[in-house]
Amino acid sequence: MKKILITGGAGYIGSHTAVVLAEAGLIPVILDDLSNSSETVLGRLEEIIGSKPIFYKGDCNDRAIYEEITKEHEISGVIHFAAFKAVGESTQLPLKYYQNNIGSLLVLLDFMQEKGIKDIVFSSSCTVYGQPDVLPVTESTPRKDAESPYGNTKKVCEDVLVDFVTSKPGIRAISLRYFNPVGAHPSAKIGELPNGTPNNLIPYITQTAAGIREKITVFGDDYDTPDGSCIRDFIHVMDLADAHMKALEYLSQQEMDFYDVFNVGTGNGNTVLEVINTFEKVNDLKLNYEIGPRRAGDVIKIWADTQKINSVLGWQPSYSLEDSMRDSWNWQKGLK
Ligand code: NAD
Ligand code: WQD
Repeated sequence: MKKILITGGAGYIGSHTAVVLAEAGLIPVILDDLSNSSETVLGRLEEIIGSKPIFYKGDCNDRAIYEEITKEHEISGVIHFAAFKAVGESTQLPLKYYQNNIGSLLVLLDFMQEKGIKDIVFSSSCTVYGQPDVLPVTESTPRKDAESPYGNTKKVCEDVLVDFVTSKPGIRAISLRYFNPVGAHPSAKIGELPNGTPNNLIPYITQTAAGIREKITVFGDDYDTPDGSCIRDFIHVMDLADAHMKALEYLSQQEMDFYDVFNVGTGNGNTVLEVINTFEKVNDLKLNYEIGPRRAGDVIKIWADTQKINSVLGWQPSYSLEDSMRDSWNWQKGLK
């Protein structure tokens, strides 16, 4: 059975991807420094997968940890999730973000080339599009100047992959541009664990419903959208995890020195107010929310054109927004 190294595999998207890989008969090898996750995730993974996941606690910037892992395991491919992702913090501590997000990719690629590990799937983001002029966004929609150091690290990492593959190192790479990942594993054993006060919409909603936050503020209802609130493309984390599996399969069929990029979204945009209404409806509760001022720098509307990933990778989302809101709430309810 093939072993896939999952950097950041104890985190939100990585842990769900470990489940999908294991269920497809691959062996996930998780490398995480637990800087934004907890070791308890590993026990939860064991409950879902039925066996203890292979885990290394270490820093993806440290070449020695890759040496150690590859001495003990033959790695067929890598999914590189490990990164810092707090947009606000990245404006305060840009070097921390450039060092970790870009630095770790450089160390990893160099190591892969040396050891002949061929395939890498990289976690990129729709943030590279900024506010697009035309919707929905396709993969050839021009990228915009990043709004934050975090966003810029995703652009730079994509560029690093392009330049590296052009140099013919004998690797194959895909960048997946995630839209807004939401939801949790339907078992509610794993999910998103935000650190401190959440910045993102769904954890803020679930924490408000749980009484941890008094109320949620909708950042603006006077935009040029059907109900005036912003629009995003909310993709269930299990569907997103499945896209990584499909990307790995596709890479294995390509010639060396291959690079491509795919949007991963549902292809539908939903407003913030629609999300709140859906959350209330599927979970049969009332959310304490108010309309507040616009959030500085917010993208007004964005959703994905998914034709490329549908036709080339044969990937389709199977979870609805209702499923996402139900699973997010079930996960929150299970948190102590
Ligand atoms: P997460 O913080 O839950 O997971 C990232 C994991 O990487 C954490 O477990 C953290 O401990 C680990 N990590 C960070 N730096 C590390 C290092 N140097 N060495 C080892 N481990 C390290 O985040 P997530 O939401 O699962 O995001 C995964 C990836 O997807 C990130 O690259 C993120 O930028 C990208 N992404 C996330 C979103 C989103 O909204 N969640 C959207 C687009 C892209
Ligand atoms: C979604 C919508 C808010 C909180 C972030 C990152 C981006 C990318 C995706 C990683 C917006 C509104 C939110 C609240 C609200 N991540 N909102 N009240 O803006 O798409 O971007 O995730 O690559 O880099 O910045 O996600 O969840 O912050 O906001 O009204 O309390 O919810 O205004 O319209 P966003 P988000």
